[in-house]
Amino acid sequence: MHIRYEMPADVDAIEDLISAAFKPMPYSEGTEAEIIRRLRLSGDLAISLVADEEGEILGHVAFSPVTIDGVHDGWFGLGPISVAPQRQRQGIGRALIARGIESLKAMGASGCALIGNPEVYGGAGFSSDGQLTYHDLDTRFVQRIVFRGAAPSGVLRFAPAFEE
Ligand SMILES: CC(C)(COP(=O)(O)OP(=O)(O)OC[C@H]1O[C@@H](n2cnc3c(N)ncnc32)[C@H](O)[C@@H]1OP(=O)(O)O)[C@@H](O)C(=O)NCCC(=O)NCCS
Repeated sequence: MHIRYEMPADVDAIEDLISAAFKPMPYSEGTEAEIIRRLRLSGDLAISLVADEEGEILGHVAFSPVTIDGVHDGWFGLGPISVAPQRQRQGIGRALIARGIESLKAMGASGCALIGNPEVYGGAGFSSDGQLTYHDLDTRFVQRIVFRGAAPSGVLRFAPAFEE
């Protein structure tokens, strides 16, 4: 299994994977594959990585620009992220996140934020100090990792593709 950037031929496999991974999730609105499509079309899919095992796409993660209090200051959002249901909890998600962080740092990003379960992302270095908010969500689920500069505070907003 290796992590690589998406290629045009991966698009359908990525959508199938995302649909399969999110289908059983009670918090899913079933729009995650569509979000990736819209990010790609709008030019906001800054990083799109796949976990490839002999040509089979087992995992995918997207990173796109975010704003904090209306300003994009080198911050990116992680997500959606998906791993094939039968291959979850085997380290694929962790490998995708680690590679994504590496790529963001190489791009000179300031940091990365996400909405998610602290148990999943804490090991990769994400945490919350309560200063970043997302609508009225409990700030424990609004996590971030700072690469450079001060820890951010303010309202986190994802790319328009997440809101259409
Ligand atoms: C979330 C998801 C991407 C994680 O990928 P994965 O390959 O299963 O995760 P890994 O095996 O690499 O584990 C990464 C960490 O998450 C933890 N973890 C994974 N699944 C978990 C779960 N269901 N509940 C709690 N912790 C979990 C692991 O213990 C590990 O923690 P560590 O780094 O501190 O050791 C995957 O489960 C998935 O596709 N879920 C369905 C789609 C989804 O909910 N995506 C996230 C919302 S955007």
